Amino acid sequence: MFSNTLKEETQQNHVDLEKKIVPRIKAIQSEQDYITLLKLFYSYFGALETLVQSVLDTSLLPDSTSRRKSEAILNDIRALGGDTPNLAGVADLPEISDHAAALGAMYVMEGSTLGGQIISKMIAKALPGKTNDALSFYKGYGENTMPMWIAFKNAMNEHAVTADIQKKVINAANETFLKFSQWVDKAG
Ligand code: HEM
Repeated sequence: MFSNTLKEETQQNHVDLEKKIVPRIKAIQSEQDYITLLKLFYSYFGALETLVQSVLDTSLLPDSTSRRKSEAILNDIRALGGDTPNLAGVADLPEISDHAAALGAMYVMEGSTLGGQIISKMIAKALPGKTNDALSFYKGYGENTMPMWIAFKNAMNEHAVTADIQKKVINAANETFLKFSQWVDKAG
């Protein structure tokens, strides 16, 4: 199945990104530290989401409106009293110019709901009692996370039936990981 290939082809970039994110989560000691992490995600995911929505063919992904939006990050930031961060510019984003590339970027954003299950627990543990209203983004779809993930992969597999489309999805997914990694580095 194509989704298995995609997982293999992007695995190294996932590992590399995870290695950059985990220490940042482990270093969280205050609500301010958590706001900084949320802002890092919002600035990238928020800008990427707009780009994705401009080219995504929603007839090929009918449940896209019910999928997690970067607005959830903003709500979490506001729940903690933080302000709205600036969004990443085009130069800091992957090139997403058609539905196949949009699927690659969405694969990364949707897949992050899986890691989010772990991240939300790490943050709740680091800031006990302080994050009750501010974990909506990392909790993703909660109990629905696995069914939503499987539905996304099914829709992607149905579309990615030619070598050309598959290559576009893989390239966009890898670029999405790499550019996020660079964005994390840029944040210092
Ligand atoms: C603390 C950081 C993270 C941890 C601990 C983590 C952990 C995980 C875990 C446990 C899975 C499920 C793996 C499996 O089913 O075999 C997963 C999947 C995934 N994660 Fe992460 N993750 C992290 C951060 C991220 C971030 C920031 C992104 C994207 C920006 C991301 C993208 C993905 C994707 C795309 C998948 C799906 C892989 C697949 O089954 O095709 N992860 N992650």
